[in-house]
Amino acid sequence: MRVLVTGGLGFIGSETVICLLNEGYEVTVVDALFNSKIAVLERIETITGKKPDFFQVDCCDYEAFKKVFETAKFDAAIHFAGLKAVGESVEKPIEYYENNLVSSINLVKLMKEYGVKNLIFSSSATVYGTPKRVPLVETDPVGHATNPYGETKIMIERILGDFQLANPDFNIALLRYFNPIGAHPSGLLGEDPNGIPNNLMPYISQVAIGKRDYLRVWGGDYPTPDGTGVRDYIHVVDLAEGHMATLKKLEDKPGLVVYNLGTGKGTSVLEAVSAYEKATGAKVPYKILERRSGDVAENYANCDKANTELKWHARFNVEDACRDAYNFQKKNPDGIK
Ligand code: UFG
Repeated sequence: MRVLVTGGLGFIGSETVICLLNEGYEVTVVDALFNSKIAVLERIETITGKKPDFFQVDCCDYEAFKKVFETAKFDAAIHFAGLKAVGESVEKPIEYYENNLVSSINLVKLMKEYGVKNLIFSSSATVYGTPKRVPLVETDPVGHATNPYGETKIMIERILGDFQLANPDFNIALLRYFNPIGAHPSGLLGEDPNGIPNNLMPYISQVAIGKRDYLRVWGGDYPTPDGTGVRDYIHVVDLAEGHMATLKKLEDKPGLVVYNLGTGKGTSVLEAVSAYEKATGAKVPYKILERRSGDVAENYANCDKANTELKWHARFNVEDACRDAYNFQKKNPDGIK
């Protein structure tokens, strides 16, 4: 079975490519290298002993993308490619709408043309907007994301839903990720943001190795037990394994399915800091500052549906993820070269 993976050299994509190769799938990776590095391909080969087919192609370039479909017969596609920085999406909304929507539309057009009938889409818990209650279940209302990035996820979910309705022989899984953290246990692959990290875990890791002085904790007055924001942090290896379980589910021809992928457990910023210190022995000094605009107090998943229907559970806890993130950061203090 051959799987087309767009964005397959990114943080979550590369981890999923490793799982696919380890489980005996053949893999074709398409990545424009906008926010990823070609060295990831070699590292995937070091870890798995296998080399996926690779095309440096922007999925927005329909003609170039079409050529990839000519190279092999795909049984399924996993669509990770996309722009994903929340803050940047506020500054560059058109780039976000254009890139994320056009690449997804091109993908489904080509899948239809070439008869590739199984798709997994990287969606996000951001589609729930500001939650009225937690934990979030898949039937909770979707809409009113707090930024253009989140809106693109909502729009693509709708486009794929409409497409599947019109093409009932297609099977499409929308996977709503909560907060992916951690790294490959080898320390060869992990989250490698450009510039100052926006997300909590890469920022903590840079503080832990002394690259930054202290963590800026955005807000200490939320209505949460310790006043800091609560999220559902899921180890990237667990997330990748969730894609394997979903691929198997698509073999049952379920039509359109939606799953939350998280741990079901909320962790505050200060709990994440303690877990990091405990798991690694490193010190993570912090200062509590004003709230960051667009943040919600609490966001965590109910994962019963994925647990039952996919027979998948997150295996790792936050401390495991902190240990792996630290290992990656120490081995790659300036990111993947
Ligand atoms: N935080 C800090 N300091 C930092 C960074 C983050 O205190 O330097 C806090 C935030 O305020 C929040 C928590 O840590 O309470 C997590 O923040 P992240 O930026 O790591 O993640 P978000 O929950 O804001 O967003 C993430 C992804 C989005 C995705 C969303 C889904 O970045 O792409 O989860 O819920 F849409």
